Amino acid sequence: MRQMEKGKQLYEGKAKKIFVTENSKQYLVEFKDDATAFDGVKKDTLEDKGILNNRLSAIFFGLLESRGIETHYIETISEREMLVKALEIIPVEVIVRNIAAGSLSKRLGIPEGEALNKTVLEFSLKDDELHDPMINHYHIYAMELATAEEMAAIEASALKINDILTAYLKDKGITLVDFKLEFGRYEDRVILGDEISPDTCRFWDSSSGEKLDKDRFRRDLGGVVDAYREVLRRLEGGE
Ligand code: TMP
Repeated sequence: MRQMEKGKQLYEGKAKKIFVTENSKQYLVEFKDDATAFDGVKKDTLEDKGILNNRLSAIFFGLLESRGIETHYIETISEREMLVKALEIIPVEVIVRNIAAGSLSKRLGIPEGEALNKTVLEFSLKDDELHDPMINHYHIYAMELATAEEMAAIEASALKINDILTAYLKDKGITLVDFKLEFGRYEDRVILGDEISPDTCRFWDSSSGEKLDKDRFRRDLGGVVDAYREVLRRLEGGE
């Protein structure tokens, strides 16, 4: 870790702040302890969540880089901060699902926990005011959110990321149920941005089915930070 001059704050989201740096091609991301759900209707501060998500995201990004997936991650700067490539974020959230859960179960009536016969990709417009509505390729092209070429790259990358993370986590006794990705433009290409953490994934203990992710917060199950810590312990412990 090294000292880093933090520039002006560019953006504050629900769980992270983004700062400019002296290098126009790099941003500093600060992970906060704030947790929200249901579009910020439910709010709390969970001590150390930001530290855990910074560590976990760095581990996942490092793993993906080692497997040939370019991410925005450059290096960890401090407990809560990472240096990243300055992306122009594409305002489309990409959701990858292996097992029915959450909003898919609600929408389609498939019981939570039922394996999907084929990996499902979904897209949402990244817009809090509109509550991140689900969209499809027609909307994406009509609104010029991304080109067909960009979407092809994003989808191929999302599926490859799913394969890498699923196998890696399986080894740690964790089932990757579903997760959300965000991509952005950098130079002439589209690369992975945002975070990969228990805030943005559903992780279930492979043997007990215990939830090790933000659903503990969304559903008032308690032990949120302990669950995040358990994920980190398994990833770092080489278990
Ligand atoms: P969902 O079942 O609520 O649609 O969530 C699907 C996945 O996306 C789950 O792993 C949690 C993640 N997610 C986010 O990262 N941000 C969000 O705002 C929402 C609603 C879900």
